[in-house]
Amino acid sequence: MSAYKFIDHKFDVVVVGAGGSGLRAALGCSQAGLRTACVTKVFPTRSHTVAAQGGISASLGNMSQDDWRWHMYDTVKGSDWLGDQDAIEYLTRNAPAAVYELEHWGVPFSRTEEGKIYQRAFGGMTKNYGEAPIQRTCAAADRTGHAMLHTMYGQSLAHDTEFFIEYFALDLIMDDGVCRGVTAWKLDDGTLHRFQAQMVILATGGYGRSYFSATSAHTCTGDGNAMVLRAGLPLQDMEFVQFHPTGIYGAGCLITEGARGEGGYLTNSEGERFMERYAPSVKDLAPRDMVSRAMTIEIREGRGVGPNKDHIFLHLDHLDPKILAERLPGISETAKVFAGVDVTKAPIPVLPTVHYNMGGIPTNYHGEVVTKSGKNPDQVIPGLMAVGEAACVSVHGANRLGSNSLIDLVVFGRAAGLRCAEILTPGAKQPELTEAHTAAHLARFDAFRNASGSIPTAALRLEMQKAMQEDAAVFRTGESLESGVQRLAAVYAKKGDVQVSDRGLVWNTDLMETLEFDNLVAQAVVTVNGALNRTESRGAHAREDCPDRDDKKWMKHTLAWLDQATGKVKIDYRPVHDYTMSEDIAYIPPKARVY
Ligand code: FUM
Repeated sequence: MSAYKFIDHKFDVVVVGAGGSGLRAALGCSQAGLRTACVTKVFPTRSHTVAAQGGISASLGNMSQDDWRWHMYDTVKGSDWLGDQDAIEYLTRNAPAAVYELEHWGVPFSRTEEGKIYQRAFGGMTKNYGEAPIQRTCAAADRTGHAMLHTMYGQSLAHDTEFFIEYFALDLIMDDGVCRGVTAWKLDDGTLHRFQAQMVILATGGYGRSYFSATSAHTCTGDGNAMVLRAGLPLQDMEFVQFHPTGIYGAGCLITEGARGEGGYLTNSEGERFMERYAPSVKDLAPRDMVSRAMTIEIREGRGVGPNKDHIFLHLDHLDPKILAERLPGISETAKVFAGVDVTKAPIPVLPTVHYNMGGIPTNYHGEVVTKSGKNPDQVIPGLMAVGEAACVSVHGANRLGSNSLIDLVVFGRAAGLRCAEILTPGAKQPELTEAHTAAHLARFDAFRNASGSIPTAALRLEMQKAMQEDAAVFRTGESLESGVQRLAAVYAKKGDVQVSDRGLVWNTDLMETLEFDNLVAQAVVTVNGALNRTESRGAHAREDCPDRDDKKWMKHTLAWLDQATGKVKIDYRPVHDYTMSEDIAYIPPKARVY
């Protein structure tokens, strides 16, 4: 592989990804005096966080009394008791300070009459431990992620984070169990780069694009997750895939849950507000897993709308057009462009659409990557952290509450920066790297670059996406998942016959999409195997053949390793943390999840 030469860089910290969590982590490390690089495959403000609409949760209490303990309770209940309660305490306790920090940096939040940050209702967010919905989600109209991303990019630049933009990360540089850096391919000139660092922070987002229809950007290919699998480390709880209830029918574009937070509601073909039957106390503001299941049942039972009775209506047409223009301008435009609907006059056709991955790289609440080693389920991998959707902290457990993602990004991005400041020394000497550290990276890169098989990447990708869409959907069965396992194994096996036509190195999108597909299919295989293995229903994992939650057997995290050569998955478990972070906060014991 000597045909390839690396250009070397040395930093204290390298953050991979420039979405909300990556920027927040990079900013924190830079503020701490650590020389920090941020390596990103897209321009920072085009990262997928830009698409986050409805808001960021924090118990500010601007609309009515609120308490972070209520937020903690809602998050534990929303997670269907698969969330780690120490991490959930950390998240909800630190949420208000994280939002005020954003405000002080300049995020243009919407305002109340008194000038406070405006907060709206979101699914599963309640007052007084489940009594009634509460307005807890801080919003910048329906472009909250966009506002946060631009502000944090500006702040990172002000604090001298060094950006490497349109660099595609290839693999982790592992050295006897320690992460020493990451390799990357610079897309616009074809050069290869070796970023050495005391700490690599993966902030590479989710892998929504393993499905055919997703609200995720096409760039959401879970590159960091796949690098972790190739490094011989496990991913956690990958069977938990969130479907957002309101993707536009056909197009899949997100219509924010904030639409229902502002008073929107769903109806079936009989004009019935059916959520009243499924979640009598919170109705359309039930958590996403429940709303998605209810919509799917309505359609299955023949009460879907449209000529094929295969979707549901979301009504905003009863709301004041002034409110729509002020609070929901983005989705009003999206509905017009992608569904041809004027939201002031007609309902939007919607369908549950893949939106978020609860699973990912296992970490503790400092952002440090952990694995199970012997009897230790919390063994830290030195030199490696993960934050944001790529990580599984696990605060979302089996089902994430809407608006708990943006807060996760900044709270744990900040936590990672604080941990780096605590354990790293600016400019500390780093060991020399050898060719052996990166030989496998180059071999994989070169093999795909010169792949001369018979199946175009797009065809294989479609086969994977269809299998995921059909076999690992809102409802699953042992049979559908068995089929998913077989179909994904077949796709995985055909990787060796993939065809890449462009042999160049400069802006080779054919090669890049193939590397992304390789990342996606590894995660898809792990997802269906984890889902087949978990014989219970919990949160977003709804098994019709095992309809009940089984705390005795299954209140544990799945860990899944992938044998790269065979595509076989090995599964083990980590216990759910049945303890909180602080002595004065009681553990919330499991109970039925009724809304
Ligand atoms: O519906 C939304 O605005 C999405 C928010 C989220 O996923 O947290």
